[in-house]
Amino acid sequence: MRVIAIDGPAGSGKSTVARHLAERLGLEYLDTGAMYRAVAFAALRRGIDPAEADKVAQMMGDIEIEVDATSVVVDRVDATIEIRGPEVTRAVSTVAANAGVRRELVARQRSWVARRGGGVIEGRDIGTVVFPDAELKVYLTARPEVRAGRRHKEVSDLDYEQVAADMARRDTLDTTRDIDPLQEAHGAMIIDTSDRDVDDILDELLSLLP
Ligand code: DC
Repeated sequence: MRVIAIDGPAGSGKSTVARHLAERLGLEYLDTGAMYRAVAFAALRRGIDPAEADKVAQMMGDIEIEVDATSVVVDRVDATIEIRGPEVTRAVSTVAANAGVRRELVARQRSWVARRGGGVIEGRDIGTVVFPDAELKVYLTARPEVRAGRRHKEVSDLDYEQVAADMARRDTLDTTRDIDPLQEAHGAMIIDTSDRDVDDILDELLSLLP
C-alpha cells in the first residue's frame, strides 16, 4: 500500500502540493483537516459547545462523515462550504485537541486509506501518528506572513489582520496541545514553500520516490 504523508501548519501549501502529488501518482487524496472541521460543524449544528469535551467525544459514536476530493458531507448535509467559514475555523482547534475525537478520526483515516489501497494524506499528525511508516513523509512550512497572505486570498470576507491573528492563535493551539501536536515527523522531508512554485516542489518530491 502506497502512503504519502504531508503535514504542516495552515497556509503552508499542503492541499495544493498533496492534490497535485496524488494526481501525478494516480493516488487518492485525503484532507484530514476537513474531517476535524466536519466534527466542529456537527457540534455547532447540534448545539453542542465545542469546549464540552465529553459531549463532543460522545457525539463521535453517531456522526457520519463522508470526505472526498471535492466535497464534505456531514450527517447527509453538504458542509463543503460551511466547514471553511469563520465559525467552524474558530472552533476547530478546540475540537482537534479532544482525545476522543482524535482516536475516532485516526481510526477512520486509516480505514479510509486501507479501503482505497493507499493515498496522499494531509494533516498535522499524519507522519507522526496516523502513518508513521509512510513511504514518504513531508513537512511543509512557510513564513507566517506568506501563510496568512495565502489564507487571506481564500477567505475574502475577512481582513488580513483578522486572518493573521486567527492563524497565529490556531498555530499556538495546534503545536502546544497535549495530544499529537503538530511537529515534524522523524525522517520527514522539510520544505519551505515561501518562495517556490508547486512544480518545483513536486519535482523534488517525485525524485525521492522510486
Ligand atoms: O488543515 P486545516 O486548517 O483544515 O485543519 C483544521 C484544524 O484541524 C487545524 O486547526 C488542526 C486540526 N487538524 C489536526 O489536529 N490534525 C490533523 N490531522 C488535521 C487537522
